[in-house]
Amino acid sequence: MVANWKMNKTRDDALAFIYAINESLPSSDKVETVICAPSILLRDLVKRQGDNLRIGAQNMYFEDFGAFTGEVSPVMLQTTGVEYVIVGHSERRSLFGETDDMVNRKVKAALNHNLKPILCVGETLEQRELGITSSVIRKQLELALDGVEIKDVTNVIIAYEPIWAIGTGKTASAKDAEEECKNIRIAIKELYNAYTADETKVLYGGSMKPSNAKELLAMPNIDGGLVGGASLDPNSFLELVKDCL
Ligand code: PGA
Repeated sequence: MVANWKMNKTRDDALAFIYAINESLPSSDKVETVICAPSILLRDLVKRQGDNLRIGAQNMYFEDFGAFTGEVSPVMLQTTGVEYVIVGHSERRSLFGETDDMVNRKVKAALNHNLKPILCVGETLEQRELGITSSVIRKQLELALDGVEIKDVTNVIIAYEPIWAIGTGKTASAKDAEEECKNIRIAIKELYNAYTADETKVLYGGSMKPSNAKELLAMPNIDGGLVGGASLDPNSFLELVKDCL
């Protein structure tokens, strides 16, 4: 279960949040719980993460160092002790001009630095209405994973996030979410092999909350969630983590 706090929480709020949940989290061999926080908070959170919590970043650039004002590199993330990084979130793609090529470079840079990329794919409302959801996602996956070797691909976590469901209160039905997560697994099988497809973690994201999580998480191809709004409150996030048990 992955929290995506987006551009929310001061340092005090963030620390209070993890102190509130650390002791109540299920063991990490049962549920992998991750908080993806703003870069400036990462080091402080890693220092205080309990045994069952892991911390991730929400973005990074793909070069190690250089004249890239305002960017944070995989080397820098690695030194904070984070283990995950969200790559290709639709807000990055639409608001900050991230292309499929940049997403691909970021996925590979993350893997080269022992960070697990949480790769986001998803369709717009227009694409859904045109009936091209599965082909859009397939294309995003192929481009994002281009050149990623089979030995690395199970370290990529894939998040299916229909763009029209993010932050809107509209959730994909469990059936539709399952259908696309299943297609993602089929794509991994075709691009790699069946074993890799089984081992790859596929998450659903888009207005997941305690009232709809159980139904989504019960689906055979949905392994967990990437949660924005409902991850900002510790009780609601804890409930979502426990729904994975
Ligand atoms: P949401 O965001 O849960 O607020 O819809 C999910 C996401 O953008 O990862």
